Amino acid sequence: MNRIRALKRLWRYKRFFTLFNHQKSPEAPLFPKGAGQLRSRAGFKPSEFNMAFQNLEVVHVVAMDQRSCIGKGNDLPWHISADLKHFKAITQGGVVVMGRKPLESMGRALPNRVNWVITRDADWSFAGAKVAHSIEEALTQAAADVLASEKPESIFIIGGGEIFAQTMDIADRLELTHVELDVQGDAHYPAIPDSFKKAAAEQHIDDKTGIAFEFATYRK
Ligand SMILES: NC(=O)c1ccc[n+]([C@@H]2O[C@H](COP(=O)([O-])OP(=O)(O)OC[C@H]3O[C@@H](n4cnc5c(N)ncnc54)[C@H](OP(=O)(O)O)[C@@H]3O)[C@@H](O)[C@H]2O)c1
Repeated sequence: MNRIRALKRLWRYKRFFTLFNHQKSPEAPLFPKGAGQLRSRAGFKPSEFNMAFQNLEVVHVVAMDQRSCIGKGNDLPWHISADLKHFKAITQGGVVVMGRKPLESMGRALPNRVNWVITRDADWSFAGAKVAHSIEEALTQAAADVLASEKPESIFIIGGGEIFAQTMDIADRLELTHVELDVQGDAHYPAIPDSFKKAAAEQHIDDKTGIAFEFATYRK
């Protein structure tokens, strides 16, 4: 059996047990451990979309407060224009993947990006958004858009809390803005696994509000 067929068989085998465990316990991770290893194998040439996504760098882009809160009442709990610019610079020209709630909260698809939105509602649609009904479907379908985009190596997961929690296992890089506030909201970023190390950090203070924040990059 050649190497690609062996990798596909391994992926399907792991996927079966992952889905089985996930059905028994919904908080179990949706993707098998080792997906990143398959993705990063040098020279591996995917021959179908569900394998294509494995070669992409999965990036979380998020702003959180001191207690990992990211949202309140389905909205951002702060307005920091430098953070919005930072978010735009990272994702511009690329492919973003999000849950239904952030898109409805923003009220429009993000311009100059392909917007993939995840919902369980089979009838849901939104102008400018591509719709998927599971995280795996979103990532595998989005892989083709990523390859055709200006940022052909990265797929940007932009929230909210449920989507971040379900994709932490497959994230390769975290672009986090740490906001020096305690907003007591209702949506949270999951705990950052020890496998991530802070690779870069930049401190700022917002001119208008005086809020201190840090742009931090975490890598495995
Ligand atoms: N600070 C930041 O950087 C940042 C970024 C993004 C969002 N936010 C904030 O985060 C909050 C929203 O986060 P959240 O945790 O409540 O929700 P979420 O993760 O944004 O979205 C949840 C929705 O996504 C869909 N979904 C989730 N998992 C799914 C799956 N496995 N398969 C299919 N569909 C799935 C469901 O949509 P249906 O109900 O339609 O089925 C679910 O209601 C808001 O307050 C927002 O402002 C903050």
